[in-house]
Amino acid sequence: MTRQRELRLNAFQMAAPGHTWAGLWRHPRDTGSDYNRLDYWVSLARTAERGLFDGVFLADVLGVYDVYGGNSDAAVARAAQAPNADPFLVVPAMAQATEHLGFGITANLTYEHPYAFARRVSTLDHLTGGRVGWNVVTGYLESGAKGMGLAGARAHDTRYEAGEDFLEAAYKLWEGSWQDDAVLRDRARGLFADPAKVHRVLHEGPYYRVDGQHLSEPSPQRTPVLYQAGTSSRGRLFAARHAESIFLNGHTKAIAARSVRSIREGARESGRDPNDILMFLGATVIVAPTRAEALDLRDEYARYLDVEGQLALVSGWTGIDLSQLDPEEALAYVRTNAMQSLVENLTVPGERPFTLADFAEFGPRGARAPFIVGSPSEVADELLSWAEASDVDGFNLTRVVAPETLEAFVDLVVPELQSRGAFKERYREGTLREKLFPGAGPRLKDSHPGARFRDPGRLRPAGGPAALRATG
Ligand SMILES: Cc1cc2nc3c(=O)[nH]c(=O)nc-3n(C[C@H](O)[C@H](O)[C@H](O)COP(=O)(O)O)c2cc1C
Repeated sequence: MTRQRELRLNAFQMAAPGHTWAGLWRHPRDTGSDYNRLDYWVSLARTAERGLFDGVFLADVLGVYDVYGGNSDAAVARAAQAPNADPFLVVPAMAQATEHLGFGITANLTYEHPYAFARRVSTLDHLTGGRVGWNVVTGYLESGAKGMGLAGARAHDTRYEAGEDFLEAAYKLWEGSWQDDAVLRDRARGLFADPAKVHRVLHEGPYYRVDGQHLSEPSPQRTPVLYQAGTSSRGRLFAARHAESIFLNGHTKAIAARSVRSIREGARESGRDPNDILMFLGATVIVAPTRAEALDLRDEYARYLDVEGQLALVSGWTGIDLSQLDPEEALAYVRTNAMQSLVENLTVPGERPFTLADFAEFGPRGARAPFIVGSPSEVADELLSWAEASDVDGFNLTRVVAPETLEAFVDLVVPELQSRGAFKERYREGTLREKLFPGAGPRLKDSHPGARFRDPGRLRPAGGPAALRATG
């Protein structure tokens, strides 16, 4: 008999009035437009923790969706992830209101510097008691690059190369700069920390340079739990090396299974245990006490889907201007500088090709991911069937109408999953990493590539001049 999976669940959110289903902000019961108010986030966090969710997963984009029609009008008019707020800033209020809930925060490294960014993340890891995850992204919007004063975005694979460099610098700061026993807090001797145990990081990478000590004392997890999303062939390589959790989409079980398989294979080739990476599949779930009520709810929500807003989003994700596609025309594969993995998923040979109508469908093709509607037991059946077939560990549950879709899931599906032994009855103690990985410690596993930077000898370039040696 196969072991019953214990599913992991995140509430997939964004600090914006509209997230991945454009137009739903217009629904009379939707409160997503309150994203600029702390009460919105506190209430969301309490609901997620009441449902024993592993985390709130916060998407973010730096830039506006201006591929559709060659301008940002549709995105701005239809609230297609515009405006959007800084996800870091909504976390402390949620952390204060909860005890166990984790926070997966998306941050685009391309426009950050490791020295300042590492401190920001460590600060949040301290303030949340070790409940922070970082969704490592590198950006797919040209508009973001221009907003940052650059001529354009880095090329797709170069973004991942730069990501490797950024992470190496960040690992040095998080893992190696301060020894565990560097902080003394010795009032009698007047010594807060032992400078011999605080090491200088000298990083001279192709994209980032650091010469300094980490500005934060060691936080509970040091390196946050590393999430990654993006499963092109270069993306998978990056994920296999660094990620502890992956967020992926796929509108068929076969597509999701293929991505999962190749990431797990990549992890094995990188010398990591493939089970050290948790896979979260995006999913839209509409649940009600009976199937008939759930179907009515789906039809009601569908009336609010904004087709132009949806096309603005997909155009931005794919880098393909869908205003140029004829209504009956099938999307053809092109190598794009945006989300290559999405374009691959939408143009799988042998599958029914995607047309404009599919992108505007309030269903699995529009979701590009499982879209599950039904009674609590039907939803549980489907989630478990997807998890089994595609070998994912859990789901990032997409916001539809906030907060009612999340509340319905917590009230109706969570007890159903629990009754089947497929969801936890209580939180494990410890940091986010310890909660997600039974038996793990608060810090990166020794087999993770970031762990080798605990060795102060690795905090400077190999063979660097003696003058540049760590101060310890
Ligand atoms: C499910 C999923 C969620 C993503 N979420 C974000 C996000 O919130 N912010 C962002 O800048 N990029 C996001 N991305 C983009 C990826 O980080 C990556 O830049 C993009 O997919 C291109 O890489 P790829 O071709 O390897 O997929 C997401 C990608 C996927 C597949």
